[in-house]
Amino acid sequence: MPAQAIYRRLPRFPDEFVWGVATSAFQIEGAPTLDGKGPSIWDTFCRQPGAIADGSNGDVACEHVRRWQEDLDLIKDLGVDAYRFSVSWPRVRPGGSGAWNAKGLDFYEQLVDGLLARDIKPYLTLNHWDLPDELQQQGGWASRDTVHRFVEYAQGITQRLGDRLASITTHNEPWVIAVLGYETGIFAPGIKDRATAMQATHHLMLSHGLAVQALRAEGHATPLGIVLNLSPMHAATDAPQDLEKTRLEDGRLLRWYMDPLFKGAYPDDVVAYLGDDAPTVQSGDMAAISTPMDFLGVNYYSRSVISAQGPWDVNSSGREITDMGWEVYPEGLTELLVRMHRDYPVPPLYVTENGGAFKDHLQDGRVHDHQRRDFIARHISAVADAMEQGVHMAGYMVWSLLDNFEWASGFEKRFGIVHVDYTTQCRTLKDSALWYRDFLRAQKAARQNRGPAPTMVLSNQHNAVAAAPVQD
Ligand code: FCB
Repeated sequence: MPAQAIYRRLPRFPDEFVWGVATSAFQIEGAPTLDGKGPSIWDTFCRQPGAIADGSNGDVACEHVRRWQEDLDLIKDLGVDAYRFSVSWPRVRPGGSGAWNAKGLDFYEQLVDGLLARDIKPYLTLNHWDLPDELQQQGGWASRDTVHRFVEYAQGITQRLGDRLASITTHNEPWVIAVLGYETGIFAPGIKDRATAMQATHHLMLSHGLAVQALRAEGHATPLGIVLNLSPMHAATDAPQDLEKTRLEDGRLLRWYMDPLFKGAYPDDVVAYLGDDAPTVQSGDMAAISTPMDFLGVNYYSRSVISAQGPWDVNSSGREITDMGWEVYPEGLTELLVRMHRDYPVPPLYVTENGGAFKDHLQDGRVHDHQRRDFIARHISAVADAMEQGVHMAGYMVWSLLDNFEWASGFEKRFGIVHVDYTTQCRTLKDSALWYRDFLRAQKAARQNRGPAPTMVLSNQHNAVAAAPVQD
């Protein structure tokens, strides 16, 4: 047994704790024009030269629109409780307003019914970034009209599917949409203007709040929430400039979203910093944004280290680095969850995404992705630590079920626990998927026997030990 192996008895997670896997529509579906689907901003963005690292696009992706039944069987086989997926807005309402597309709605209805038939809870996200391109022509998220189109979209989907859904998320990662889409322009729609980005972020938050209000007014009982991408921010040194910049970056990433949701106001220091680029806010907007929610989702990948001197060199951390160039930092997840619980009156929290991109090799029908397996195991352990410190956690979902189109990185980065051969579309469970399945089986057995929780072997020596849970 290698010296680095750490045995850890995880608690038996609560009976109602939800284990899942996650995907998003644009990253897996393909079929961009099938059965009346309209173009999304990502279809358009992919055609800009140089926008996607490998020059690829979402035209085929994982062919999920054709292969959804096979994919649901895979999910069932993993033994998860829930599947987090998103609806492509331009598949169900091609122009973002006007006529709805019956065939698009039928697709998601089949998917939801297919999940329920397999006893898997459907966790639906309305906006995982693929805005109808026609709405972008009118300003996209920078236009206040888009807010009202989003509320209509939320109402239409909920009227059709709400009675069968376990959860509805309004937006996935509004920071990414606004900042990467409208400020740095490295994501769709590729705009580079800070004032536009900040107006977009306000409209995203407003549309979230108004959608929650509208769905509640219609009497829907489906749990409603939003998903944020958050990281703890650590100053590179104790120098005042580093500490000050760290506070600002924390303000822009975390407080900019958490404060309006839970305190009804944007943080003063960030508003002051933005100056003329701060968004126009109308009366009543902040009250709408802070409408109480049923859950909050957090996507966690790594921490951020902030230096006033410029970008911090991740290689100086001495830690394992993923294929995205992100530091593996599981304790940051505990720190983040505890801080959210301490600083805000949060509803039950989910980790709605967590996972790693690593270079995988398919050999003789196996992918020995022990780095990914250990990544997931160590982050589940970090969730357990947060729960021990009193945080109410409702669930954990792995990003991602399948290797897929990783936005501006194209197909070069693989996050799946299931390998996808993009030539044959053949799916293969990686070792991380086999481990997750074993872990969930052990959790469920422990639940049923009311017996001891499984002990997990956690290790940095990713090719040295089996991280399978063992009963003792
Ligand atoms: C998140 C996105 C998800 C995926 C992961 C790696 O920001 O929500 O679609 O790309 O990162």
